[in-house]
Amino acid sequence: MKKILITGGAGFIGSHVVRLFVNKYPNKQIVNLDKLTYAGNLQNLIDVEHQPNYKFIKGDITDATFINGLFEAELFDAVLHLAAESHVDRSITNPLEFVMTNVIGTVNLLNAAKQIWGCNKDKVTPTDKRFYHVSTDEVYGSLGDEGLFTETTSYDPHSPYSASKASSDHFVRAYFDTYNMPCVISNCSNNYGPNHFPEKLIPLCINNIKNNKPLPIYGKGENIRDWLYVEDHASAIDVIFHQAKNGTTYNIGGHNEWTNIAVIRLLCQIMDSKLNRPVGTSEQLITFVKDRAGHDLRYAIDSSKLQTELGWKPSLQFEEGLAKTVDWYLANEEWLASVTSGDYKNYYDNQYVNR
Ligand code: NAD
Ligand code: DAU
Repeated sequence: MKKILITGGAGFIGSHVVRLFVNKYPNKQIVNLDKLTYAGNLQNLIDVEHQPNYKFIKGDITDATFINGLFEAELFDAVLHLAAESHVDRSITNPLEFVMTNVIGTVNLLNAAKQIWGCNKDKVTPTDKRFYHVSTDEVYGSLGDEGLFTETTSYDPHSPYSASKASSDHFVRAYFDTYNMPCVISNCSNNYGPNHFPEKLIPLCINNIKNNKPLPIYGKGENIRDWLYVEDHASAIDVIFHQAKNGTTYNIGGHNEWTNIAVIRLLCQIMDSKLNRPVGTSEQLITFVKDRAGHDLRYAIDSSKLQTELGWKPSLQFEEGLAKTVDWYLANEEWLASVTSGDYKNYYDNQYVNR
């Protein structure tokens, strides 16, 4: 597979996947397709933007005509699909945008790939092509105190975001069953790390601690998430992309469950130490606020299938990964300032026009 389309490559996880693939596979051409929404930021890729095997295209996956034309022109061998609306709170305010990007956008990509690869039930699934759909553990719904999500857990999404991701997963599987599309899906737990947009819990709180602003904790802070360092997600995607059999699904997670309040207390300790503030200073910023509507209580991933079958395992402990993340944000104040002010958008929007 020589030419790989990565969608959403200017976003948080996508930028780490693009960097990994561009650097690790100099003989493969990596094409990054991104609409550059508020969450897409080409500053995330400044270190690879001039590599000869990398190209950026600004475009919208909801535009079927554009997508079909792009696939006909570029003849991609593989698609690594990360583009999405990804923030649960935004999905509660504007569900339709999530249907458009996450569902219609995914089906547009499936149709375009099916067309150029000539997939149909009368032909065997091509072994030299791949459609890799990056999804989330939120499709499985919410756990009680016990148990883990496995690849066979029934789908039970609760937010408009997770409902849209569940729908897109179903379409990908339907294209495998109906047209022999060479598809693979992974469902990952919460990521954290550099380049995370500061609307999500961890980067939001890093930014607020830095600026002595309140740390908004929904409800009582008892909801549990299973955190994975973003580079470990990228390395899992690499392994699955290259080794998984068509039609399979893998869960990705770090066996790393934390209540939100415990995460923020740990973050406060790390930041007090890094900012030379007296112990306990940042914790005073913790503010309990109204809960998120339909807030899932607990996510926890069983990634033993991926670990056993494909030999992947996470590389970092959470305390180490969180300290590394804080270091990155403190060393990249310009990035944070430009993202929070919106300046990064004006700069890049002037350089690329929609095709
Ligand atoms: P993100 O919001 O940081 O980035 C999404 C990217 O998609 C942005 O660059 C944005 O510009 C682009 N995009 C959005 N709409 C587009 C459109 N219509 N056309 C083209 N590009 C468009 O998201 P993320 O957190 O990096 O998540 C990436 C993927 O991983 C998503 O599919 C998400 O569901 C999944 N995921 C995320 C997490 C997590 O913890 N962040 C965990 C599991 C799975
Ligand atoms: O589980 C994977 C998912 O993780 C991904 O699919 C999503 O794209 C990603 O955004 C993330 O979803 P969450 O809703 O879990 O992430 P978020 O950072 O928004 O919230 C983490 C937890 O913290 C959640 O229980 C809600 C809570 N929270 C969040 C924010 C933004 C707060 O208490 N206060 C906040 O201000």
